Amino acid sequence: MPPEDPLVAARQIAGSFAARIVGWQGTHGRSELPWLGSRDPYRVWLSEVMLQQTQVSTVLGYFQRFLDRFPNVAALAEASEDEVFGLWSGLGYYSRARNMHRCAQEVVVRFNGAFPSTAAELKTLPGIGQSTAAAISAFCHGERVAILDGNVKRVLTRVLAFAGDLSSAAQERALWAAATELLPSEEGPDRAVAAYTQGVMDLGATVCTPRKPACLMCPVADLCAARAEGAPESYPVKSRKIRRSSVAVWALVARDSQRRVWLEKRAAKGIWAGLHCLPLYESRDALLEGLAPKDRLAVRDGKSFLHVLTHKDLHMHPMSVDCTTPGPVATPGRWFDEREWLALGLPAPIRKLLLESA
Ligand code: ADE
Repeated sequence: MPPEDPLVAARQIAGSFAARIVGWQGTHGRSELPWLGSRDPYRVWLSEVMLQQTQVSTVLGYFQRFLDRFPNVAALAEASEDEVFGLWSGLGYYSRARNMHRCAQEVVVRFNGAFPSTAAELKTLPGIGQSTAAAISAFCHGERVAILDGNVKRVLTRVLAFAGDLSSAAQERALWAAATELLPSEEGPDRAVAAYTQGVMDLGATVCTPRKPACLMCPVADLCAARAEGAPESYPVKSRKIRRSSVAVWALVARDSQRRVWLEKRAAKGIWAGLHCLPLYESRDALLEGLAPKDRLAVRDGKSFLHVLTHKDLHMHPMSVDCTTPGPVATPGRWFDEREWLALGLPAPIRKLLLESA
């Protein structure tokens, strides 16, 4: 049985755990990624933000395109938000793009164009949470700070057999404390913290997977308390279910005689904030009221579909109309031809709808 207190459990394995992870990263961890080994905070930050909710294989192309267009933080800060959204298009979770753009501007204004060098200061910037801040300062400056993203949580809860509910702030704090304890010590070799940080992430992504972890390939299998218990995949312990809400939305696909589509820029707050989007309504009637009487008669119902957001199910009801009037009344938008809307950052289901009806 592991000790109840994760900090005590971490202390028992700390030295050998870190040394094994560092050694394993060198021989079996990932090494082909363009941001690996970089000590340039701009590159590391860009890759970490992109990797927050997106797979490595998808990020690769976007990372290069961003660097080509914005070779440094000043270039990104000067861009328009719409251009950033356009380049981000397809990565989803656009709040990351918005925060990234604001972060670049703050780095220029508050820090004279140079990212600060400690996790504590990095955390004061938009879109940089504890784990991203720690990854940047560990990779670029070797700071001894712990990350705790999804992959790392899985590795650490298993190795420590940590059964706390991570939706509780106190339990999460306890795991952070244990994660800090497990870091390589100050006296370790140069770059040990960087290799360790990359190593736990790689281990979580490739060996210590959610289902069927490959324990036979794991460098810390003999230290792993969950393995000793016989069921490593039962960690992390599932937390209380968040309540999902559900909402119905009517989306108007209005086209003019040149097949251009009517889009509006959404408000800075709320769902899909700041993105271009089809006009959205709370009901079918509200959508119809938004059209000139002549167009109302020509509206066609499209195929409804479900779009799942993090905390909400969106039941989307598309409706199409070929407008005879200058545009849907009472929405502040304009007509976009296909070349234009393909270059915009659009919410994923809206882009899909447009591509299917183009
Ligand atoms: N996910 C988050 N950060 C990562 C990194 N540095 N390498 C691979 N996957 C990651």
